[in-house]
Amino acid sequence: MEDIYISTFEAAQERSLKLESNLLTHPEKFRVLTGDRPTGKLHIGHLFGSLQNRVRLQNLGVQSFIVIADYQVLTDREAFESISENIKELTIDYLSVGIEPKKNKTIIFPHSHIPELNQLLLPFLTLVTNAELDRNPTVKEEILASGLKKIKAGMYIYPVHQAADILFCKGNVIPVGKDQLPHLELSRTIARRFNEKFAKNKSVFPEPQALLSKSPVILGLDGSQKMSKSRNNAVFLSSTEDETVALIKKSKTDSERVITYDPTNRPEVSNLLLLISLAQEKSPELIAEEIGDGGSGKLKSILSETLNEYLKPIRKKRKELESNPDYIKEVLHSGISEAREIATNTLKEVRQVMNMEI
Ligand code: TRP
Repeated sequence: MEDIYISTFEAAQERSLKLESNLLTHPEKFRVLTGDRPTGKLHIGHLFGSLQNRVRLQNLGVQSFIVIADYQVLTDREAFESISENIKELTIDYLSVGIEPKKNKTIIFPHSHIPELNQLLLPFLTLVTNAELDRNPTVKEEILASGLKKIKAGMYIYPVHQAADILFCKGNVIPVGKDQLPHLELSRTIARRFNEKFAKNKSVFPEPQALLSKSPVILGLDGSQKMSKSRNNAVFLSSTEDETVALIKKSKTDSERVITYDPTNRPEVSNLLLLISLAQEKSPELIAEEIGDGGSGKLKSILSETLNEYLKPIRKKRKELESNPDYIKEVLHSGISEAREIATNTLKEVRQVMNMEI
């Protein structure tokens, strides 16, 4: 049996670079699909890590789909009480950073509302083995991180459902971080096996490609782990200016007075410099030089000011959107209806090639 997770990071990186240059010359040939779990509000790690790239691709003229993966939330937590609220908050975050469904035809929708997408899961499950699902490195890590002893089938199966998220609209550009690569390899395998087994090698599903994000890993303000809502180390798009200042004031640094960019030996200070550099679009080394012997006090005050300035228009837009819940609903409803139309056509094609029409 082939090993679907063996394809190297270098190979994916090479494909990704080629894809990036094709996107610039022929944006109309591609369809971007990205997704998030609706687990809460987005923070600046999301902003610099993926949202900005989505806006960039959208504005290049690439048609973009954003899946709100509400079923995926159920794989590792009992969070269904707040899913509906989180879907709306996520949508507000998207719109506040410049995702524009009306103008750019970007489609935002929760996948639980697209029955024809979900139905693809059944034939797809016949194209992979239990052993392959068992071996998925990202799933293995999530199982370890969850600390659960009894793992539900949904945990093993969600990457196949993710293939349905991607393939229902024949998405061919999937901007992802490294942790999502195994899922993407699985989606590529499912597309290929579907075409071979059911479609006499006709290309019903194109093999989706990963567009690897260039952005560096953004640590939380504690400097030691990834920025994350649950670790209380994140500046949210929705945080107030005062909350932002307070969080930065508490952030960890070191006692060295001269500020230098040295991620290996000074991870906390370097992470704060990195955040300034992302917002100011200047190199972190240059910013460190400018601060010189100003110490962490100066570093923190520059970061607070820079971030609050940078987030000002986003937060203003966010406030406006928060006061217009009808508009948020409308965005989601039209996203759902467009996604359903596409999913219905794909399911029809799938039934045809699978000889299931009556
Ligand atoms: N698994 C992704 C995450 O945890 C979310 C996701 C769901 C996704 N469906 C997708 C990502 C399709 C890319 C494509 O972040």
